[in-house]
Amino acid sequence: MKKEVPVSEGLRQLPIRPVYLVSAEHKGKKNIITIRMFAFFSGKPTLVGVGIAPSRYSFDLIRQSGEYVVNVVDEKLMKAARICGEKSGREVDKFELAKLTPEKGVRVNAPLIKESPVSIECKVVKEVDVGDHVWFIGEVLATHVREGYNWSDGLLFKWIGEDGFYYRVGEKIDKY
Ligand SMILES: Cc1cc2nc3c(=O)[nH]c(=O)nc-3n(C[C@H](O)[C@H](O)[C@H](O)COP(=O)(O)O)c2cc1C
Repeated sequence: MKKEVPVSEGLRQLPIRPVYLVSAEHKGKKNIITIRMFAFFSGKPTLVGVGIAPSRYSFDLIRQSGEYVVNVVDEKLMKAARICGEKSGREVDKFELAKLTPEKGVRVNAPLIKESPVSIECKVVKEVDVGDHVWFIGEVLATHVREGYNWSDGLLFKWIGEDGFYYRVGEKIDKY
């Protein structure tokens, strides 16, 4: 039997909430933000979205440039995710602080993060203003995957806000 629990507690039980690093650039100013608000919106055209609060420095960069890159976080990037989720690009250069390297993409000007195993180049096609975040819906223009990378090797993370831990999941169990 299930019992009703506070909404925040119930939502914490949702199976997987990966964390991503989103990079953006406008007029030579580069930045990275840690996010968990990421979603798929359409197959054809291929649309994804990132939810960014208007107070973030990244919000200005994405709105002004109309572009962003979603970078997957693996175990090695855990510390960088923490830095990019705590500091603002208004005060610090997060590429420098988190020891990350910007790399040129092929379709957008926003930088890829070299150390991330998967980077997805997106061009904003729509902004949806809901609640305390704005969703930047982006068409996926290009994807980059490190040779030999396989997420099912177990490098997928779940962030539980309240206890502040990352978890490793991803054991293959059965074909559906
Ligand atoms: C695990 C984690 C997930 C986060 N998810 C989001 C998110 O989905 N959207 C958002 O706007 N901020 C999110 N944040 C907060 C931003 O990363 C944080 O405010 C950051 O310092 C903003 O950086 P900026 O001002 O350089 O853009 C998250 C932070 C952490 C640690």
